[in-house]
Amino acid sequence: MPGTAIVGLQWGDEAKGKIVDLLTKQHDIVVRYQGGANAGHTVVVGDKKYKLSLIPSGIFRPNVQCVIAGGVVLHPEALLQEIATLNAQDVAIGKNLIISDRAHVIFPWHHVEDVLYNTIGSNEPIGTTMRGIGPCYQDKVARSFAIRLGDIYQADFRERIATIVDAKKRMLAGLVNRPDRREGAEIQPDLDVNFDVDTICKNYIGYADRLRPYVADTTDYLLNAVDADKRILFEGAQGALLDIDHGTFPYVTSSNSSGTGISSGSGVPAKFITKIIGIVKAYTTRVGGGPFPTEQDNDTGQKIRDRGNEYGTVTKRPRRCGWFDAVAARYTVRISGVDTLSLMLLDVLSTFETLQICTEYELDGRRIQVFPSVSEDLRRVEAVYETLPGWSEDITGVRNFGDLPANARSYVKRIGELIGRPIEFVSVGPDREQTITV
Ligand code: GDP
Ligand code: IMO
Ligand code: MG
Repeated sequence: MPGTAIVGLQWGDEAKGKIVDLLTKQHDIVVRYQGGANAGHTVVVGDKKYKLSLIPSGIFRPNVQCVIAGGVVLHPEALLQEIATLNAQDVAIGKNLIISDRAHVIFPWHHVEDVLYNTIGSNEPIGTTMRGIGPCYQDKVARSFAIRLGDIYQADFRERIATIVDAKKRMLAGLVNRPDRREGAEIQPDLDVNFDVDTICKNYIGYADRLRPYVADTTDYLLNAVDADKRILFEGAQGALLDIDHGTFPYVTSSNSSGTGISSGSGVPAKFITKIIGIVKAYTTRVGGGPFPTEQDNDTGQKIRDRGNEYGTVTKRPRRCGWFDAVAARYTVRISGVDTLSLMLLDVLSTFETLQICTEYELDGRRIQVFPSVSEDLRRVEAVYETLPGWSEDITGVRNFGDLPANARSYVKRIGELIGRPIEFVSVGPDREQTITV
């Protein structure tokens, strides 16, 4: 069974959605396996633009089965809203979507906790998407206060909510009244902790009723699909540098967003995932806090932001922009087991006179090629750059690699060389058609 995975190799927003949509036609099943509505994946088909948070980017091909697997955390209301928005855009969603009964559910206290836990001592805030993702995963690991989608249908749901509400109210009351905890949060949801058991039960039972047609044991479904030799495409969310274990901790998301999370999130054993495509932008962006060695907090960064329209899909925050970081990409290619690369948004770099690629770091006067494991070290590194000549042509209409300007071809080749993996796709615009197969 050819199981293929799409994994972001930077800090998210590498244009994974575009490549998933493109490759969907060669697959039977598309699976989201981690993260939640912190993800914002964009698919552009002709003059239509779709934004996806929880629903797999395979949803636009009706014969393909989309799966939200057990490793995802979901807010049922957000999911229903996403389904409604897509329906309004004439995207049919019915039997082509199944959702795991193992997926953990986000409740109102998770949103409050996201605000309260955003700060890390005196350091820079994490700058989360405030979707309750981290706190929901936290409760999952701690177990006692966690609710999975399948639990909402059980007779003891109300009793469990009553216990959790009682505990959360008492635990959060003291923290909510400390205004300093709110500082640094760029997004400020309601910090009301007067959770009402009746209202929550009524709302969530209502959501669960509406979601019932989609709810299934997706692990069993996927294991049967493996046995039946179906072609499965795994759609990663976020990027490997945001991985909870292998990313720039603590400035990360709360799931394994590198290649390491595919198997645990979906339930499909790693040996069935035969190809991993790593997605990188031709430069680097980051939303939220944390170290970013190649960041250009200057006119260059602003030019990239303007040309690439680098504003968050989910939170609309301006993305931090900088040069391509080959030290980071060499690390994430290896941790994610990447076979080939897809280099995205190359068109954004047109009109720069020269381009820089970070090939090494300098830390305390020493040159290093290894990506530091401690974020405070990463914060101190100086990026060492190689300068390449730019190109002035608009490349958004190019469809063959050979038709790219010579300097653009050299830039792409150099990135492949530095990372040590072949480049399979080059993207020169948001549309499906604006893709070069190398
Ligand atoms: P994802 O989260 O990895 O799916 O990426 P996002 O959707 O958050 O961000 C990628 C953005 O770049 C989206 O607005 C895409 O429509 C857009 N995009 C994708 N590929 C290209 C490209 O090659 N060139 C340009 N200019 N935009 C692109
Ligand atoms: P896609 O799938 C970019 C970032 C947040 C924050 C950190 C933690 O569209 O690439 P969280 O809400 O997950 O606890 O926030 O992770 N982040 C993303 N950045 N793209 C994403 O998803 C992201 N999902 C989370 O900005 O820095
Ligand atoms: Mg995104």
